Amino acid sequence: MAYSEKVKDHYKNPRNVGEIENASGVGTVGNAKCGDIMRMYLDIDENTGIIKDCKFKTFGCGAAVATSSMATELVKGKTIEEALKVTNKAVMEALDGLPPVKVHCSLLAEQAIHSALWNYAEKKGIKIEGLEKPVNDVSELDDDDDEF
Ligand code: FES
Repeated sequence: MAYSEKVKDHYKNPRNVGEIENASGVGTVGNAKCGDIMRMYLDIDENTGIIKDCKFKTFGCGAAVATSSMATELVKGKTIEEALKVTNKAVMEALDGLPPVKVHCSLLAEQAIHSALWNYAEKKGIKIEGLEKPVNDVSELDDDDDEF
């Protein structure tokens, strides 16, 4: 299984690891099949809707670490609408790809962001256009059951 240099870099030196106190939104998702868990923290500017900071913590595999690290880098400085476009595919592209058996790991990062945004919207009593209720277990989204 070959990993790109970018994946190796983000795995060895993950960006934005940690937590944000009094975060605007926090989201936790897991994958029941592999047992990995990820938590994402967002600090969102109330007036502009811009994501000022993003941090994550994970009990996850190397690919989950690398994709979360890249995902936090991609959403920082973006508006909520732009952050919704940071899909697992976008994260994988930014990392120059992932081996096929590791593609599902990138769903943790995407869904953890959605979950943190959902939490923010609930706290604020607002609706975020285009954001669907996130799942707690990303293995529900995975159509490739054979690859675990
Ligand atoms: Fe579980 Fe990668 S094996 S997220």
